[in-house]
Amino acid sequence: MSIRVNFTVNGSAESVDGVWEGESLLYVLRERMGLPGSKNACEQGECGSCTVYLDGIPVCACLVAAGQVEGRSVRTVEGLADGDRLDPVQEAFLECGAVQCGFCTPGLIVACHDLLARNPAPGDAEIREALAGNLCRCTGYEKILDAVRLAAARRAPRP
Ligand code: FES
Ligand code: FES
Repeated sequence: MSIRVNFTVNGSAESVDGVWEGESLLYVLRERMGLPGSKNACEQGECGSCTVYLDGIPVCACLVAAGQVEGRSVRTVEGLADGDRLDPVQEAFLECGAVQCGFCTPGLIVACHDLLARNPAPGDAEIREALAGNLCRCTGYEKILDAVRLAAARRAPRP
């Protein structure tokens, strides 16, 4: 049996038909809606590469059944930029070279975006804790930490 799911994605109301009962939000975003930013790496909630906001809370989209998002609001990495202007977190990742293969990057950017919204000036231990659910097999994490520090510094109020 298939269902229709109505929800908001990056601010726009969407209806998706033909969703099967076990289908994940990640599958719907990537395969049905043309939003490939959220990555499918493990499909088991282990790597964080599929992280999106669901009603403002970061979740692994691979673990959310599409039917669960009925009437709710999803924001993906594609929805962080303001038109052609990247979000400061995205800019910091680029500037710091915190991207290698890029598979982990969208999930890390959403997780970092959430961290800085909650805690504009995180210490290193807080950054590490916030990003602990996001695995990267390329960078060794140092440049990712640099990117978070840079994004945080840019958001800090100027003296
Ligand atoms: S693909 Fe969802 S956590 Fe890895
Ligand atoms: S840049 Fe390749 S997994 Fe992180």
